[in-house]
Amino acid sequence: MIETIQWTGDGVVMIDQTRLPREELYVTCRSYQEVARAIRDMIIRGAPAIGVAAAMGVALGVQHADPARLDEEFEQIASTLAATRPTAVNLFWAIERMRRVFAEVRGCPIGAIRERLIQEARQVRLEDIAINEAIGRNGAPLIPDGKTVLTHCNAGALATAGYGTALGVIRSAISAGRRIDVFADETRPFLQGARLTVWELQHDGIPATLITDNMAGHFLKSGRIGCVVVGADRIAANGDVANKIGTYSLAVLAKENGVPFYVAAPVSTLDLTLASGDAIPIEERAAAEVTQVFGVPVAPEGTAVRNPAFDVTPNRYVTAIITERGIARQPYAESLAGIAHA
Ligand code: MRU
Repeated sequence: MIETIQWTGDGVVMIDQTRLPREELYVTCRSYQEVARAIRDMIIRGAPAIGVAAAMGVALGVQHADPARLDEEFEQIASTLAATRPTAVNLFWAIERMRRVFAEVRGCPIGAIRERLIQEARQVRLEDIAINEAIGRNGAPLIPDGKTVLTHCNAGALATAGYGTALGVIRSAISAGRRIDVFADETRPFLQGARLTVWELQHDGIPATLITDNMAGHFLKSGRIGCVVVGADRIAANGDVANKIGTYSLAVLAKENGVPFYVAAPVSTLDLTLASGDAIPIEERAAAEVTQVFGVPVAPEGTAVRNPAFDVTPNRYVTAIITERGIARQPYAESLAGIAHA
């Protein structure tokens, strides 16, 4: 299995996702500031993986914190990590989980506090792998045999602690005997589909074909695509889904062509405090991601750019949301609340 992120005696070790597939390099973060930078610069990315990184970042920060100023330093660590990327709710979920553990052990000897936070961060990672396997098991029966699955961005092992959400469903369907192949959108501008999804699927021997984002409609109309499966960064109470920019267009095209559109995500990606997707904060990233490809300019100097990293797919385009606790369908306000409180 690909190791996305691990806690080691040396620090938090991550595979550098900005360098794949050309180089398989590992980065060691030795402070919480380095973990924050790794999240911001997308050395690690994908909502569940960002959550694991944040949990480990908190644990790492407390290892080096001044015991006499622990409360203030904890808040500084939490707020630095929370300021990295705004859309994936798993980031905030993980920080809150670590905050609850910190509150439980406050007043204990510093060594015990540090140990307990390391243990929790490691537990977040292990649970994430088990959750993805459960998502895979729940989603596999939805995947039609003998067809192509279309996916967008990377919702695989690299976007999680392992196995993946959308790619976990695909892995699980293949293990259950489905004869399927995968079409991967390249996912402009950061190319997670081309660089990461194809690399990851090749690693596992799963047949993968790369298409550019603007080819998706053509193939959805062709009858070849049996279903679309994507991940999510935040899902509102009504089932609106924030995911990588381009997901919304894909969902509309899927509906137009009668192709089921599935979202695979852990319960930690649900944000039931938000009534609809309109309230989900959308990250806007640097213009250079759009005007340059691997540092080479592809647009005239001074070009005006917009670079929203995510879009929101209205729930009416979502056939089902696959979680580790089961499958939610319309009306999502009821089905998601049931799953969240199960
Ligand atoms: O900007 P990224 O690469 O962090 O965006 C990732 C996605 O949009 C994924 O689809 C999502 O986080 C789900 S990952 C299991």
